[in-house]
Formats: sequence, C-alpha cells, structure tokens
Amino acid sequence: MVYENIVLIGFMGSGKTSVGKILARQLHKKFMDVDTLIEKEQNASVTEIFKAKGEEYFRSLEQTCIDELAQNKGQIIATGGGLPIYSSIPEKSLVVYIDADFDVILNRLSSKEHAKRPLLQDEVRARTLYEERIDIYKEQALLTVVPTKRYRFLFMLSLILF
Ligand code: S3P
Repeated sequence: MVYENIVLIGFMGSGKTSVGKILARQLHKKFMDVDTLIEKEQNASVTEIFKAKGEEYFRSLEQTCIDELAQNKGQIIATGGGLPIYSSIPEKSLVVYIDADFDVILNRLSSKEHAKRPLLQDEVRARTLYEERIDIYKEQALLTVVPTKRYRFLFMLSLILF
C-alpha cells in the first residue's frame, strides 16, 4: 500500500494538531486541520455550528471535508476526535492514533482550549465517550504515538515515509 496522506486520530485535546504541525515541518509536508477548515468554510466556530445546526450536521461536514482532502496527496491531516467514529477515513491514508490518557488531556488543556469543545463540557459524559471510543481509534490506526515519546516516533516516521 502506498499511503497518500497521514491522518492523525485521537480523543479531543490529545495533541493531534501539535503533533501534526511538527510532523509536517519535519517532513516538509502540508498540514491540514479538519476542524479549522470547517470553521473557515462555515465562517463559524465548532461550538457555534453545534449550537445552530446540531452535531449531525457537523458530522456531515467532517465527512465532506476529509473526502475533499483525500483528493490531494502528501498532507498531514489532523481530524476532530469524532471523525473516525462517524465518518469513514479515505483509503490510502496512513492512520496514526495519538494515545493520550483522559486525565492527562484534562490537566493539559487550557481553559480556553477546554471551552472550545462542546463535548468536553460535562466531564462524566466526556470520560464515558473516551472509554467508548478508545477501541475504535485503536482498530482504525496502523500506528500509535504516545505523546511523551513523540520525538522517537517522528524520527522513525521520517525515515520510512514519502
Ligand atoms: C469532537 C472533537 C473536536 C471537534 C468537535 C467534536 C469530538 O475536535 O471536532 O468539538 O467529537 O471528539 P478535537 O479533537 O480537535 O478537539
């Protein structure tokens, strides 16, 4: 299989965007962030989209966005935490799971970053969501990155890819 893009998946706040940016810089590839693209295209924040049009509508935007991104190659794509749950990730994507612990995520996120995520507002529900999703992330990913060991991972990946 020749992979056309790297797609980063994982729970909200696990560091997909920061790992993705580093990876893109090291590999001299374009970085794309699904949530940011949706926000730009809709001219509204994720929270506003959830409020005005509902989660289901947001999920359909995610599918459209990842399908459009798959028209191009050589990108590092960060997804929102629900994308691999509700959308299908295009073939020829090297799917990488960012495996961060739920408590680490909560402690690490600034209040501003926390406030941006509608599904993280109720901690009990968010923890349940994390537990429900974790196996799905693992099933979909070919590789897993533990954020604390991300430099070792990046080095390995830059040796074998593209
Ligand atoms: C979501 C994750 C968010 C964003 C939306 C829904 C989820 O992205 O897409 O709030 O269902 O896990 P991050 O994973 O970047 O926080």
